[in-house]
Amino acid sequence: MTARRILSGMRSTNPRLHIGNYEGALRNWVELQNEGYEMFCMVADYHALTTMYEDAKEIAKNNLEVAKDFVAGGIDPEKAAIFIQSHVPEHAELHLLFSMITPLGWLERVPTYKEKQDDMGTAEREPYGLLGYPVLQTADILLYKPYGVPVGRDQAPHLEIGNDIGQRFNRLYGQDVFPVFKYMIPQDENRAKLPGLDMRKMSKSYDNCIYLSDTEDETAKKIKSAYTTPSKIKMTDPGIPEGCAVCQYLKLYSPNWEAQWQEDRDGLRGCSANKKECTEAVNEYLRPIRQRRAELDDATITEILRDGAERARAVASATLAEVKAAMGWN
Ligand code: TRP
Repeated sequence: MTARRILSGMRSTNPRLHIGNYEGALRNWVELQNEGYEMFCMVADYHALTTMYEDAKEIAKNNLEVAKDFVAGGIDPEKAAIFIQSHVPEHAELHLLFSMITPLGWLERVPTYKEKQDDMGTAEREPYGLLGYPVLQTADILLYKPYGVPVGRDQAPHLEIGNDIGQRFNRLYGQDVFPVFKYMIPQDENRAKLPGLDMRKMSKSYDNCIYLSDTEDETAKKIKSAYTTPSKIKMTDPGIPEGCAVCQYLKLYSPNWEAQWQEDRDGLRGCSANKKECTEAVNEYLRPIRQRRAELDDATITEILRDGAERARAVASATLAEVKAAMGWN
């Protein structure tokens, strides 16, 4: 284990990250970076392919945009290695080797597999790669022998399989190649579970997201039509802030949210005042991220990714060499 090393990744299924991705993952990465961890931040394009193989070209475009959001969100390319999974071929090779030692039963039990299977519709559309998803994720992680992996709670089953595969490898080949890594799951539920503008889970498919790269006007328009207390028609009607999307954002981003919630409850303020203050708070919060993003062009991010892949490969190829040596294949 490398005491100060962290690896994490996000799939490039969307061209841009939303504020929920930021609160649930990216923000955590930035904090770890600022605490001095050596970060490996990966855009998981192979993983995107498991559900989007018909749109391979789109994934390639998304890769650049997601990487821009990493940098805009505060990942410093001087400190962290930012890279695209498919630029580091060791991920594919270690995935293959791990696929040989992973019992099928471990994979069939994974809850996210069952969910994604349902999403694909029919068995004919469902690729082999979907079942192997956690095996590829294990290769992503163990190539870097990290101290920890920061992810959302939904990823915990994948990380468990990751440590199981690593320890199984060690046992099978009689060498301690892979240390056990830690799961770093955000403790702040308000941030980790920031709802969409309609109070459902924030997701592109629900069209309820605030994107890091939205303009301030787009953000204002979205918040204007956000879900509030349905029974609050007039200002004097009592609101129920716990069930109101605008109030969830106020709670995170407005310093005087407690007073705002109380007035909402007491019928002393209307939803439009809440929405206006919410818009200001969210836009202020995202302003530095948006400014950094506007300054990033394709050439700059391409160079960052080239450098990141080089740094990642240096570590990944050394681990792969150890793996082969343990197997007696050197
Ligand atoms: N499966 C992760 C997700 O959907 C993305 C991912 C791929 C990842 N490889 C990883 C996360 C390695 C952490 C470590 O969010």
